[in-house]
Amino acid sequence: TPAPVITIDGPTASGKGTIASLVADRLGWAVLDSGALYRLTALSVLRSGVNADDVDAVAQLARTLNVTFDGERILLDGEDVAQAIRKEDVGNLASRIAAYQPVREALLQRQRDFRQAPGLVADGRDMGTVVFPDAPLKIFLVANVRARAERRYKQLMEKGFSVKLTDLLEDMQARDARDAGRANAPLVAAADAVTIDSSGLSIDQTVSRVLALWSERQ
Ligand code: C5P
Repeated sequence: TPAPVITIDGPTASGKGTIASLVADRLGWAVLDSGALYRLTALSVLRSGVNADDVDAVAQLARTLNVTFDGERILLDGEDVAQAIRKEDVGNLASRIAAYQPVREALLQRQRDFRQAPGLVADGRDMGTVVFPDAPLKIFLVANVRARAERRYKQLMEKGFSVKLTDLLEDMQARDARDAGRANAPLVAAADAVTIDSSGLSIDQTVSRVLALWSERQ
């Protein structure tokens, strides 16, 4: 049987990445930040000067991404871009090109290749619906827009990026609408997903909730 996967999907800044990596640490499993692949493709578009409206050219960049995940580092052609891909302009472009079906297809196998024993925690938008439909535990992590904007604001400030909270709120709502409204792999809870609202929960409480759900399934 294939290695187990816990999928964590949800809207922008719902805390998916943080929760996924803590759950993976606790279980001693691998982690997949699938959004990073869309962000890396977006960064490649910006750097190569390819027209972002040219679906085939963007898909070709996605197909040929030369990326290595090495702990906290994310190497694109050997350069650590872990910080660079977190910028808002990269995130916004990532959301635009993520609507292209050929881009999603180009990244599909790359994501499935992360599945390995003893297990994988995968976060994104379509982990439970498209990439790992057979995952034994699927989480849909939500939080109200205010809580999410405040988290993202803190995160960006800590990284030294200066941003306005009102701009963040607007970007976030635009991105959520695009991610939820697109025809290809829209942001939606899998039919068999458990929804967790983290608005009033601490990181520890959210992690514990996921771990408890996982031990119930054993
Ligand atoms: O999660 P993150 O904000 O890093 O993702 C950036 C963008 O990539 C999202 O806004 C979404 O449009 C896209 N994405 C996706 N499917 C995933 C992960 C991310 O479409 N599994």
